[in-house]
Amino acid sequence: MENVFIMDHPLIQHKITMLRDKNTGTNEFRKLVEEIGILMGYEALRDLPTEEVEVETPLETCMSPKISGKKLAVIPVLRAGLGMVGSILTLVPSAKVGHIGLYREPGTHLPREYYCKLPEAMEERIAVIVDPMLATGGSAVAAIDSVKMRGAKNIKFLCIIAAPDGVERIHKDHPDVQLYVGHLDRELNENAYICPGLGDAGDRIFGTK
Ligand code: PRP
Ligand code: URA
Repeated sequence: MENVFIMDHPLIQHKITMLRDKNTGTNEFRKLVEEIGILMGYEALRDLPTEEVEVETPLETCMSPKISGKKLAVIPVLRAGLGMVGSILTLVPSAKVGHIGLYREPGTHLPREYYCKLPEAMEERIAVIVDPMLATGGSAVAAIDSVKMRGAKNIKFLCIIAAPDGVERIHKDHPDVQLYVGHLDRELNENAYICPGLGDAGDRIFGTK
């Protein structure tokens, strides 16, 4: 599938295995989400635009690449996406941060937006939306709709675990968005949870269950 990148790096897979373990506590879970976010971000940002600039080394002056363009925007989908913001900021410390608040309505599983605040001039920035879980794809599509409505044209979406339904939904509704998936899981259950998955990412990151 064009624009869908499924990670196969052993470090990412190893850390996802640890995330899945129901005995992994909040502290370790949070660290693992951040680490996986860094490894995935490194991969997802390999096509960042660069420009040659002049630099003086202790020996001579040379031309060398530097990231160009307006600062990228990292946009977590609240709440669970917050766990991956630090990952992208580790890689690009000058990035701006936007927030999109969505929750899945119990029963229908439909996304409801309750908050959105993005940096200005989104049309000139690369938008990196982060959310550890891509289940039905409802939240992801709503987040992408929202970011596009505010001008973004170059969008990447990073999730740690995805269900086939979510990947297909993004590919169908937003084929231009580059989707990075840590692991593609088997299926959704009747409650729209990913199986085998890791449970509720928000609750496990924030220790709310
Ligand atoms: C989770 C997850 C995604 C969404 C994925 O958030 O972090 O945002 O579900 O499901 P979908 O693909 O079916 O839309 P949740 O709604 O549980 O909110 P939370 O992060 O505040 O816990
Ligand atoms: N959100 C989660 O946190 N986990 C799932 O399995 C599905 C949606």
